Amino acid sequence: MEFRWTLRCSSPAMLKLDTGSPKRTEVRTPKVHWRMRILAISGSLRASSSNTALLKAAIAVTPQGVDVSLYEGLGDLPHFNQDLDGEAVPQSVKDWRSSLRAADGLVFSIPEYAHGVPGTLKNGLDWVVGGDELVGKPVTLFNASPRGAYAQASLTETLTVMSAKVVSEASVTLQLLGRPFTADQIAADPDMSAALRSAIGSFVAAIDASRRGR
Ligand SMILES: Cc1cc2nc3c(=O)[nH]c(=O)nc-3n(C[C@H](O)[C@H](O)[C@H](O)COP(=O)(O)O)c2cc1C
Repeated sequence: MEFRWTLRCSSPAMLKLDTGSPKRTEVRTPKVHWRMRILAISGSLRASSSNTALLKAAIAVTPQGVDVSLYEGLGDLPHFNQDLDGEAVPQSVKDWRSSLRAADGLVFSIPEYAHGVPGTLKNGLDWVVGGDELVGKPVTLFNASPRGAYAQASLTETLTVMSAKVVSEASVTLQLLGRPFTADQIAADPDMSAALRSAIGSFVAAIDASRRGR
């Protein structure tokens, strides 16, 4: 199967590590005096997913004082069906909803499939469209590839319409496409780990400001 896609990434915060573009100054993670919990959500179920590796590396480089955990239950959710909602809602959906609700912010990293958001993630979001889990919640998008602008735009639109607070300045793009780095290798790479730490720093600052109502 061959796909042709257009490279159209224009995020101002996008950091291309291997193209010689100027690198932004690293944003240090601010000290926050409360237990901040961030949930990381990969749009890929692949065991060797570059998006999951990126998120695991972000977890590894996050300074102490901020909890970032990876949500691993997306593939267990049933297909969204309003008839299943209500009192007898499946346990996997209850877990998904409570994980979202408990998080102070969400970081997504997703592949693009046929110019769209992976169905698994869209299915997960459909289960919370009717709830308040994402309302006012700071969210940001990390990218494992400079391609995939359609999926990024589509996910941003879905999160926006669900009233999440998209923190675009905390977004970061690494070039992992075709480079099978493990999470440990990403975390050990000075440029990539600095980019991730910086993005986490921006996101933590935005979550803290959001909580203070600024
Ligand atoms: C079924 C399928 C469709 C894809 N469609 C696109 C696409 O439309 N645009 C794109 O940039 N990449 C596309 N890709 C490439 C994936 O986005 C890319 O391999 C991604 O890095 C995989 O992420 P992962 O390593 O986290 O699984 C597609 C891959 C697959 C398997």
